[in-house]
Amino acid sequence: MNLLRRKSVTDLQTEALTDHSLKRALGALNLTMLGIGAIIGTGIFVLTGTVAAQNAGPAVVLSFVLAGVASIFAALCYSEFASLVPMAGSAYTYGYATLGELIAWIIGWDLILEYALGAVTVAIGWSGYVVSFLRDVDINVPCSLAAARGVVAPQCTTPAVFNLPAVIIIAIVTTLLVIGIKESANVNNVIVFIKVAVVLLFIAAAAHAVNPANWHPFIPPNTGDRGAFGWTGVMAGAGLVFFAYIGFDAVSTAAQEAKNPQKDMPIGIIGSLLICTVLYILVSGIATGVMSYKDLNVPDPIAVAADHAGLGWMSSLIKLGAIAGLSSVILVMLLGQSRVFYSMARDGLLPQFVNKVHPRFQTPYITSIVTGIAVAIVASLLTVREAGNLVSIGTLLAFVIVSIGVVMLRVREPNLPRAFKTPAVFVVAPLGAVSAAYLMVSLPWTTWRRLIIWFVVGIVIYFVYGVSHSKLASKE
Ligand code: ALA
Repeated sequence: MNLLRRKSVTDLQTEALTDHSLKRALGALNLTMLGIGAIIGTGIFVLTGTVAAQNAGPAVVLSFVLAGVASIFAALCYSEFASLVPMAGSAYTYGYATLGELIAWIIGWDLILEYALGAVTVAIGWSGYVVSFLRDVDINVPCSLAAARGVVAPQCTTPAVFNLPAVIIIAIVTTLLVIGIKESANVNNVIVFIKVAVVLLFIAAAAHAVNPANWHPFIPPNTGDRGAFGWTGVMAGAGLVFFAYIGFDAVSTAAQEAKNPQKDMPIGIIGSLLICTVLYILVSGIATGVMSYKDLNVPDPIAVAADHAGLGWMSSLIKLGAIAGLSSVILVMLLGQSRVFYSMARDGLLPQFVNKVHPRFQTPYITSIVTGIAVAIVASLLTVREAGNLVSIGTLLAFVIVSIGVVMLRVREPNLPRAFKTPAVFVVAPLGAVSAAYLMVSLPWTTWRRLIIWFVVGIVIYFVYGVSHSKLASKE
């Protein structure tokens, strides 16, 4: 049993040229939009406020800068891989080419935390915004259907049984993904346009109301609690707002659907991340500039900040922007998840029915539907906190492994033709791994415990099924 068997990069490249099962329909612009679609979501619309109020004060801006820098290191490593191995599957496929089958399986299993659980988390957040927006226009979702099981939705007195809006959004997105990658990308483009417009409008309209006095003290003194203000607060804040950056790597799961992956993958990954980093820094700077960070501890801090800036009319617009924004995050996360499962099944590590491609739509429809149903069930029952805890740690672990993998492949196969090279790879990749590991360490022990349990389950499944069905093994 060779658990370290690897796929050769050259084989993967040949496979990428000959495998036409998925449709190559996406260009650089669509890929960048896909990245922005996945990135801008709950993070900026919700976390900005809570992190400013509880951890970093106005220096939440620095938290965004630090988490952005860690993400950029990782994005540079992802870009090298995505242009080198233009196959669906992202970190899972890169792991298979560098670190061997067992680690690849572990990364694939880990990515379920990022994508499927990410979609769950954001669908629950989406439901909260929709219920609140509908209430603004006098439509009341019944209390029994407005939140997770056992949770009392705002302005309700009885606990809910089932989160209906979360199920509905997942059903809509899943249908879209089955119909086609091009159609999904088009819908994503429209949504991204709306949410970026809302964010830019906030920046432009609220900037005049900034009162620099609100930025003093920029880093409020430590309260005595670890992670509450002072530098430890800024660092803890970086670990939390990291969630806002998750998603740029999802672009790489669509590598097999890119027209010109060598050139366009790096543009999509790095471009979307840079655009969002700039927007995040501006939004968090302005939100903490128009009002005291102490008053930002609300579920809708950007709407509240707009209100403070005398832009009351923007409040509903911002809610709409958030609703649109969150739906495209769900779209790209579910897209990523189905492409990772598709790749794992293609390699024999998951049952074959998973990678069945629809004869007309050319999408891996069975995996999209099965993923959609599983995600909908989980999303209808869990709370945001339960689901969200694991998403960041899972993503960071993938970043660590990809950063290590890129260096290993440089050492092992220095002469592969690389269309995009991570600049100063022997500095950038270790920094990427260390900064992601550092952010992992800042997450609570309960999250670590769940991560470990998740891996134990995954490893059992690998030894029961994958190890004996692996196509690479049978080839050898
Ligand atoms: N980055 C995504 C968000 O903030 C996951 O919702």
